[in-house]
Amino acid sequence: MEFFTVQDAAAAGAVGAGFLAAVIRSNPDAVLGVATGGSPLPVYRSLAGYGLEMSRIRCFALDEYVGLPAGHPESYAEVVRREVTGRLGLNPANVFVPDGSAADPERAACDYEAAIAACGGIDIQLLGIGHNGHLAFNEPGSALDSRTRVEVLAERTRQANARYFDSPRDVPERCITQGLGTILEARQLLLVVHGADKAEILHRALTGPVSADCPASVLQRHPHVTVIGDEGAAALMGRATTPGTAAPVAVGAGAAGTGPGR
Ligand code: GLP
Repeated sequence: MEFFTVQDAAAAGAVGAGFLAAVIRSNPDAVLGVATGGSPLPVYRSLAGYGLEMSRIRCFALDEYVGLPAGHPESYAEVVRREVTGRLGLNPANVFVPDGSAADPERAACDYEAAIAACGGIDIQLLGIGHNGHLAFNEPGSALDSRTRVEVLAERTRQANARYFDSPRDVPERCITQGLGTILEARQLLLVVHGADKAEILHRALTGPVSADCPASVLQRHPHVTVIGDEGAAALMGRATTPGTAAPVAVGAGAAGTGPGR
């Protein structure tokens, strides 16, 4: 695992975009895993500036609310359409989001897992982290080998995401999320984290015990993880580095907790 500390969210976006651009340049048929939430947005903005040929790039979103009507502006299908497909000029037919308005969401979750496999798996998965350690919508208690499925959102997650809705009551109670086992199958993971309010959970996830109590701790089990934190988020992570000027800090083996299973 490598960890980069950068000055702010915009810098994290620039560095994150560089990793995605490298994958896209090396493989015009790459499969990207995309995330919603605020943290990845500067990555998409920065990646759009590269002007890369992306007509064959395929994208899978991490998760989606269950029960929002199709076209709801805060459904992840719409967020991905605005922030990813539109901004990057992707072919909409190559961009996939779990079907949260399906009559049978459990079935839709299984179909989504199968669709990822049918594309040959995800080459690079962009991730954020929730304040309770959630990864995608895998809330504390999620099995570390879980697959794409319907989940009930934690109250803390619903409160955090209420900022996107007119009223906290409007935040859906359920979602479809890629499982932790699904995420671990991506060939490369790229976690982007901003803000001092994430410092404690980021430190716990990367250096504490690998446990369902902190779903993002499962990152320690992946062989190819890059973490980009701004100065606030990285405050507890030790030496600061900036890509291009110094080697990243290696996190995990030898750090507190159980360390990664490399
Ligand atoms: C949502 C998403 C997660 C994301 C999290 C953190 O709950 N489902 O995938 O990581 O928000 O979002 P932010 O980056 O806005 O803190």
